[in-house]
Amino acid sequence: MANRGGFSSKLGFIMAAAGSAVGLGNIWGFPYEVGQGGGAAFVVVYLIFCFILCYPVMVTEIAIGRKTQKNAVGAFNDLGYKKWNIVGKMGILSGVLILSFYNVIAGWAFGYIFEMAAGNFGIAEQFGDYIVDIFTVGAYGLAFMATTAFVVSRGVSGGIEKAAKLLMPTLIIMILSLVIYSLTLENSFAGLQFYLVPDFSELTGSVIYNAMGQAFFSLSLGMGALITYGSYVGKNDNIISSAAFITLADVGIALIAGLMIFPLIGFMTDGTMTEVGRGPGLIFVTLPQIFGSIGGTLGAIVGTTFFVLLCFAALTSTVSLLEVPVAYVVDEMSIRRSRAVWLVATLIFITGIPSLVGNGYSEFFTNFIVYVGADKATDFLSFMNHLANDTLLPLGGCLIVFFAAHVWKKHNLDEELSNGAPGYKGSFVQKYLNFAISYLAPTVLGVLFVFTVLSTFFGIKII
Ligand code: PFF
Repeated sequence: MANRGGFSSKLGFIMAAAGSAVGLGNIWGFPYEVGQGGGAAFVVVYLIFCFILCYPVMVTEIAIGRKTQKNAVGAFNDLGYKKWNIVGKMGILSGVLILSFYNVIAGWAFGYIFEMAAGNFGIAEQFGDYIVDIFTVGAYGLAFMATTAFVVSRGVSGGIEKAAKLLMPTLIIMILSLVIYSLTLENSFAGLQFYLVPDFSELTGSVIYNAMGQAFFSLSLGMGALITYGSYVGKNDNIISSAAFITLADVGIALIAGLMIFPLIGFMTDGTMTEVGRGPGLIFVTLPQIFGSIGGTLGAIVGTTFFVLLCFAALTSTVSLLEVPVAYVVDEMSIRRSRAVWLVATLIFITGIPSLVGNGYSEFFTNFIVYVGADKATDFLSFMNHLANDTLLPLGGCLIVFFAAHVWKKHNLDEELSNGAPGYKGSFVQKYLNFAISYLAPTVLGVLFVFTVLSTFFGIKII
């Protein structure tokens, strides 16, 4: 167990965990989910999930990690509940599945760095052809996975921390500047209205399930990523306030990403907002147009910088996704870290091939599955997304809080949370967390998990 490494400072942990949370989920996933269903109504449900249900899950994951100093599976063993390590194993499976398709999207974004540098803003119209060219985008994906593996192999404080600290603030400044720019464009107001003025008649069951999945995905919850990161946190750090910061940072960045994209869609569609339901390609189609509208060398510089920063945000997330199975393999199977990293990364890259070819190149993976009651087929990448984000993560979150409150027991969790948080005991936050972790979150997440599975895969719509 020697040499597991640890974060060099409190800020190191917060930045790394925020780096894990902030990624493609915020800038690519959030706007596309908002666009696909519900608009502002989605945003409202999403915010409720993040603060009311996900924050308690986050606190619990970090506490379990710090208490045991173990990976997602080892943590349950260490607390003396070996049977429960199935939750950790499920988390590792989710991590592998998520990284397999996440890396494909990251590869697309990586390739865009070169497209923007070459001033090729017309890529927006050729996006369909771009992702079908699987040898090119596959090579970008391979390069991305190799970079992730390289960072992870350097260990926790060497690689993960440094990468996170440097580039996050720059990304925020960049997005904020683009927000200001896109608000000056014509018809931006129609976009703002779609994004910010809720129409609750849009609120359907699937909007709720997607908002739940997106909240878990964006906050990196439900798969033990934060158990793993929590295992590197110092005993005197304040978990309550760190988790609050991470949640706020993540939600804040998703919200400003929306403020950047929707006014732009208003501009591009003359206020009709017809582009919003575009799906996973949304940012790849809209953003080059904003850079194109800036035009010339400046447009190319802004576009290139943007995708460089987006790739760094994605990298701090892929690093945490890879760290989950790697920490498990290193701790439990006593394989050397560097070897474990390359082994696992290769395996995940191969698992991602169906997601890579399922966007038009391979007919089989493009029309991979027709859910019961659905009128059209779902591609492999979206299937992975439904399976991992919308289903496994909320289930994992539900089981983690249930475990902490009723198996490991609340008072043990409370004890761990109060280390480094002097005012915690007796506070309102403690009372709320106790209620949420014991009753609210397990019930709501458990029920919604069942509803999601029935609705998404079997066409049985209860709400
Ligand atoms: N939260 C990351 C994002 O929003 O891009 C994705 C992610 C990272 C999900 C790590 C889950 C995880 F464990």
